[in-house]
Amino acid sequence: MDLFRIKSVERSIEETDEPEHRLKKELSAWDLTVFGVGVMIGTGIFVLTGEQAFSNAGPAIVISFALAGITCGLAALCYAEFASTVPVAGSAYTFSYATLGELIAWIIGWDLVLELALGAAVVSRGWSAYLQSLFDLPTWLAGDEATPDFGAIAIVLALTVLGVLGTKLSGRFTSVLVIVKVAVVTFVIVAGLFFIKLSNYTPFIPDSKPAETESGLDSTLLQSVFGVEPSVFGVYGIIAAASVVFFAFIGFDIVATSAEETKNPQRDMPRGILGSLAIVTVLYAAVSFVVTGMLKYSDERMNTAAPLAEAFKANDLEWASKLISTGAIAGLTTVILVLMLGQSRVLFAMSRDGLLPVAFAKVHPRFGTPYRITIATGVFVAALAGFVPLSELSKLVSIGTLFAFMLVSAGVIILRRTRSDLHRPFRVPAVPLIPILSIVTCLWLMVNLSVETWVRFLIWLAIGFVVYFAYGYRSSRLGRGLRQADVDGDEDVAPVR
Ligand code: ALA
Repeated sequence: MDLFRIKSVERSIEETDEPEHRLKKELSAWDLTVFGVGVMIGTGIFVLTGEQAFSNAGPAIVISFALAGITCGLAALCYAEFASTVPVAGSAYTFSYATLGELIAWIIGWDLVLELALGAAVVSRGWSAYLQSLFDLPTWLAGDEATPDFGAIAIVLALTVLGVLGTKLSGRFTSVLVIVKVAVVTFVIVAGLFFIKLSNYTPFIPDSKPAETESGLDSTLLQSVFGVEPSVFGVYGIIAAASVVFFAFIGFDIVATSAEETKNPQRDMPRGILGSLAIVTVLYAAVSFVVTGMLKYSDERMNTAAPLAEAFKANDLEWASKLISTGAIAGLTTVILVLMLGQSRVLFAMSRDGLLPVAFAKVHPRFGTPYRITIATGVFVAALAGFVPLSELSKLVSIGTLFAFMLVSAGVIILRRTRSDLHRPFRVPAVPLIPILSIVTCLWLMVNLSVETWVRFLIWLAIGFVVYFAYGYRSSRLGRGLRQADVDGDEDVAPVR
C-alpha cells in the first residue's frame, strides 16, 4: 500500500491548466491583503478579547495577542514560501501532497474542514446574534430550543450565492465591508484612548488562582498530563488566553488557498499573507490595550458577547456602541464569506485529485468558479450553523488550524531537502530554525487547549482515516495513475482521467 505517494509540484501546477478545472486568475496583492484582513478581523477581536481578559489574562490580554501573533507570524513565513513556490488552490492540503504524501494531505484536507466550514458556522452564529441585538429582532430568529438559527442560515446561503457568482465579485463586496470594519476598529482605538483610566491596568498580570472547572475534561492537556491543578490568570493564564485568542488570527492562511486565482502569485502571495497579518496584529494589540483601559477586566460587562460595545456604553457613549455593533456585523460577514471561499477551494483541490468525487471539481463555464463544491459547502455550513449546538465545538476550529500550521511548517523543511532545485521566489529565513520554532509554538498553543477539545479532534481525525480508506485511497487520481503505469510497465506516470 502506497500511503505516502507524493504528487509532484510540477504535476500540481500542470493540472491547474486543464480547461475544465481552470480557475480565473484575477487577484492582486491588494485583493489578497484585503482578503486576509477581511477574514481575520471578526469574532476574535469583537468577542473573545473581553471574555479572555475577564476569565484568563486581565489587562495582560495584550501579551496573549502578541504571543498568538508571533506564532502566526512564524507559520505565515512558511505559508508564504509554499504559496509562492506551489501556487495551486488548496493551501495546506496541496503543500502536504507535494511533501508528506497523500495520506497526510488527505488528513490535512479533512482537518481543514474544522477550520473553514466549522469556523464559518461558528462566526455566522455570532453574526446572527449581533443582528438580532442591534435591531431588537425576535430572539427566536437567532435560534432557541425550538427553532434553528434562521439568521445564520440566511447569511450563509446568501454568501454562497455570491461565491458562485464570482471570486472577483466576492472580492469587491469584501473590500467595501473591510473598509467599514477597519474604520470601526480604528474608531475604537482612537476614541477609546480618551477614556482610558490608568488604574484599570493594575494589576496588569492578575495573580494566578485555581480555575473553577466542572470535570477533568475541562482542564488543558498540559495540566492533565502533568497533574497540575487547573488555574487562571498569572503567566499561565496569559498563555491559555493566547490559545483562545489565536482564533482572531485564523484566516491569513486562507489567503494561500487563492494562490491559483492570483495574477502574480510569486510576488503577491507573500505580500498578501504577511501584509494582512502585520496589519491585524497591530490593530489587535491596540484594541485590547484600549478596551482593558476603558473597562476594568473584572467587570462582568467584559464577559459578554459584545465587550467592545459594552466598554463604550460603560463610558456613556451609547451611540458608539451601536456603531461598533454595525461594524461587527459588517466584519463578521466578510469572515464567513472568506472562510467559505477557502473551504470550497480546498475541497475543489481534493475533488480534482479524486480524493473526493471528481464531479465536484467542475468549474462554472460562465462565472469561472467551482460552483458545485461552493453550493455543497454552503449547504453543509448552513446546516451546521442552523441546527448544531456550536459553542462547545468552537475550540475545534483553533486546534484544527494549529495542526495544519504545524504540518505546513514541517513541509517547508522537507521540501527544501527533497526539492532543493525548485525556484522559491520567497524563502523563509534561517531554515530549519524558523519552521521548527513555528512547530513548537503551535504545539505549545495546542497543548494549552482542553482535553475535551483534544478528544473531539482525535475522533474527527479517526473518522477521516476511515473515509480515506473507504473511498479516497482507491479513487485517487494519482493512485490510479500509478496503478495504470504498473500495468503498462511505464516509468512515467500518466495522469488518468
Ligand atoms: N479570525 C476570525 C475571527 O476572529 C476567524 O472571527
